[in-house]
Amino acid sequence: ALPEKVKIVEVGPRDGLQNEKTIVPTETKIHLIDMLSASGLSVIEATSFVSPKWVPQMADQVEVMKGIGRKPGVSYPVLTPNLKGFQAAVKAGASEVAIFGAASELFSKKNINCSVEESLQRFDEVMRTAKEAGVPVRGYVSCVLGCPYEGKVAPEKVAHVAKRLYSMGCYEISLGDTIGVGTPGSMSKMLEVVSREVPVNALAVHCHDTYGQALANILVALQMGISVVDSSVAGLGGCPYAHGASGNVATEDVVYMLHGLGIQTGVDLPKLMDAGAFICRTLNRKSNSKVAQATCKL
Ligand code: HMG
Ligand code: MG
Repeated sequence: ALPEKVKIVEVGPRDGLQNEKTIVPTETKIHLIDMLSASGLSVIEATSFVSPKWVPQMADQVEVMKGIGRKPGVSYPVLTPNLKGFQAAVKAGASEVAIFGAASELFSKKNINCSVEESLQRFDEVMRTAKEAGVPVRGYVSCVLGCPYEGKVAPEKVAHVAKRLYSMGCYEISLGDTIGVGTPGSMSKMLEVVSREVPVNALAVHCHDTYGQALANILVALQMGISVVDSSVAGLGGCPYAHGASGNVATEDVVYMLHGLGIQTGVDLPKLMDAGAFICRTLNRKSNSKVAQATCKL
C-alpha cells in the first residue's frame, strides 16, 4: 500500500546549487529558499558547512543562514561533515544538520577525504555533540546503487553504513543514488536488504535522475513503505565529486506524481513552479523538470 502522506526534503539550494560552475549570488540563494518556504515544503536543505576550498559555491553558508526568512514549522537543515562544520552551523543558527557518508570507499575518499570507517568515527563525534545540543541529525549514505569510481555497490555495504548511522542516533537515513544509475530492480533489491537493518519509516530515498529512472525508483520505494523523498526544484544539481551525475529528480515532477497518486505533500505546485522559474531565469537555463517544461497544462 502507498503512504497517505509523503514528506519532501527539498535539496535544491544545497545539492542543486553546490554544483553550479559560476558563483550564485547569496541574495539569489536566499530568495530561492524564501520562495520554497512559501510553497509549503516542510524541509529545505539550505547550505553546507564544508570547506570552501572543496566546494566554493557553499562558502557563503553563514550569510545564507542569516538571510533566510524562517517560516514556522519549516526546518532548514545543513550538511556538516565534521565537528568544525557542526560548530560553525550551530553558531550560524542551524537547528538541524546532516552528516554524509558513503557505501563506497573511493567515493568517501574523493568526497570527504577519509575512509568510510574514519568518516563514521567523525560522525560519531558530531552526533555526540549534537545530542548534547539537542540538534537532530539526518544521515546520508551515498552511492547506494552505484559508484562513479567503484561501479556496482553491494546492498550489504549500504545496509552496513545505514545501520551504523541509524544506531548512532540519526533520526532518518537518506539513501542516495548519487549518479542516478539505479533502476526499479536494483532499488527494490537494495531496499529489501537495508530495511532488514533500519526500519522503513526511518528511510528516505535521494534519487539523481542521470538515467531517467528517478520517478520509477521513487514509486518502488513508496510501494515498499518509504514516505520521505528528497528532490530538487527544477531538477538542479549534481555532485562535484561525481562527474557526469545530473541533478536530483525535480521536486515539481515528484509533487505532480504524488498528487496524481492521491498522496498529500502539503506543497502548492504553482508556487513551487514559481520558485523553479525564478532560479532558472536567474541562472539563465532551462528547467530539468518535465512538469515545468510541459505546455499542455491541466
Ligand atoms: P580535509 O582537507 O581532509 O580537512 O577535508 P582537514 O580537516 O584536513 O582540514 C583542511 C582544511 O579545511 C583546514 O583549513 C580546515 O580548517 C578546513 P586550512 O587550515 O587548510 O585553512 N576545514 C573546514 N572548513 C570549513 N568547514 C569545515 C571544515 N573542515 C575542515 N567543515 C572535508 C575534509 C570534509 C572538510 C572536505 O573534504 C570537504 O569539505 N568535503 C565536502 C565535500 C562536499 O561538500 N561534497 C558534496 C556534498 S555530498 C553530496 O552531494 C551527496 C549527497 O547529495 C547524497 C547523494 O547524492 O549521494 C548528500
Ligand atoms: Mg545528492
